[in-house]
Amino acid sequence: MSDILLRDKTASRDVDSPAVVNRKTDANIRNPKKIFIKTYGCQMNVYDSERMADVLSPIGYAPVDVPDDADLVVLNTCHIREKAAEKVYSELGRIRKLKEAKLRAGRPGMTVAVAGCVAQAEGDEIMRRAPVVDMVLGPQTYHKLPEMIARVTRDQDGVLETDFDTLEKFDNLPATRNPKGYSAFLTVQEGCDKFCTFCVVPYTRGAEISRSVEQVVAEARHLACKGVREITLIGQNVNAYHAVHDGADWGLGELIQHVAGIGGIDRIRFTTSHPRDMDDGLIRVLGDEEKLMPYLHLPIQSGSDKILRAMNRGHTYAHYRDLIGRIRETRPDIALSGDFIVGFPGETDLDFEQTMKCVAEIGYAASFSFKYSVRPGTPGASMPCQVPEDVKQQRLQALQNLLYSQQTVFNKSLIGRKLNILVEDSGRQDGQLFGRSPYLQGTHFYGDVNLKGRIMPVTIADAGKNSLTGVLA
Ligand code: 5AD
Ligand code: SF4
Repeated sequence: MSDILLRDKTASRDVDSPAVVNRKTDANIRNPKKIFIKTYGCQMNVYDSERMADVLSPIGYAPVDVPDDADLVVLNTCHIREKAAEKVYSELGRIRKLKEAKLRAGRPGMTVAVAGCVAQAEGDEIMRRAPVVDMVLGPQTYHKLPEMIARVTRDQDGVLETDFDTLEKFDNLPATRNPKGYSAFLTVQEGCDKFCTFCVVPYTRGAEISRSVEQVVAEARHLACKGVREITLIGQNVNAYHAVHDGADWGLGELIQHVAGIGGIDRIRFTTSHPRDMDDGLIRVLGDEEKLMPYLHLPIQSGSDKILRAMNRGHTYAHYRDLIGRIRETRPDIALSGDFIVGFPGETDLDFEQTMKCVAEIGYAASFSFKYSVRPGTPGASMPCQVPEDVKQQRLQALQNLLYSQQTVFNKSLIGRKLNILVEDSGRQDGQLFGRSPYLQGTHFYGDVNLKGRIMPVTIADAGKNSLTGVLA
């Protein structure tokens, strides 16, 4: 992956300094430009999309919900599986038609940007295949957006930025945020050094870095001031978080306890964790910290030691099972969630049975399961014994039948219990509210709209596979 690639013919010319571009003019406050951001993939992209909007707000861009009238369209893309990456090109086809229609009608055009992991991995190809695209920007370059827009507008040339300096990104993002609701993501760690043989993340997001405690705490305080009550600390390997603070080594456990001390923050979550980084300190905090919600996403991917080795996961099934045992001893009410891949190269029926056995033994409250998707450039792509598509499909079906039945059983076990729900929004029905339980299930109940943003006790009356319903207690 290269550092900076510029296709811009004027790359050697001076660019406007961001300070100049950042100036808020009376004209753009009165008549804000419209930005439409479409987000694909993981929570990190959700966070990044919000941050792009924050970067552009001072230069007069206001978010809109549909692309039709937008001055700037950003597709924040995901490269994790083939299907996710393909979606970008079909969306670009739709955007091209919108842009052409705008120009035909004599209206101002539309700047089109592709951001995220597809941009990082296939930037050159996007520029070549999709002339509608004006800018391609990798996940570590969002702070440069104003400068890039100025260059595109001024020079009418395509710009491609796939710089890899993650810390520079965080040092340059604005301190202010405009959170949409009462629950917000906060990136504390980014990138990955684990190199699982199926995964593109180490190539698209770069090496593992942690943000400083000061930066994280400042952002968390700011979110609390804006009314946020629940923060999810996120990172590709969030429990690998480490920083030196006041001369001491801090891990995720210390960071969580510090964030828990911020007034107004009542709930904390973290995701996604790796079994290898689940240390005793963090397990202790899971037991001690009341603001930490009883929900843990801890992917195993496969129950077969042979496949775990081929995936370069760096642990065995026994290690994972013992870890879960210790976590449950410390926090008995923890709801566990996991990621699974079926049909990794070399996976036999016996290996798959071991995954089924793992799920039966561990018991999951929620899960994400996928067919292995060949990702060019990863070691898995060139491994022998790729599994045929129909076998992958059958295995996924069997696995999901088991996982979904566990999820339903877990949800139904909550009927009759009183759970604290953070009320996030209105529900679909008139008078209905929507919020999340400590175990992250979406929960519907009836109540006054003024309850939004409050944490309310709700008695669970019914439960399905994906959500709960209840009545205010
Ligand atoms: N194919 C299928 N699933 C994948 N994941 C990551 N890479 C691939 C791939 N090539 C899944 C893993 C990971 C989750 C985010 O996506 O389960 O934990
Ligand atoms: Fe990908 Fe493995 Fe890193 Fe997770 S730990 S981001 S699956 S390489």
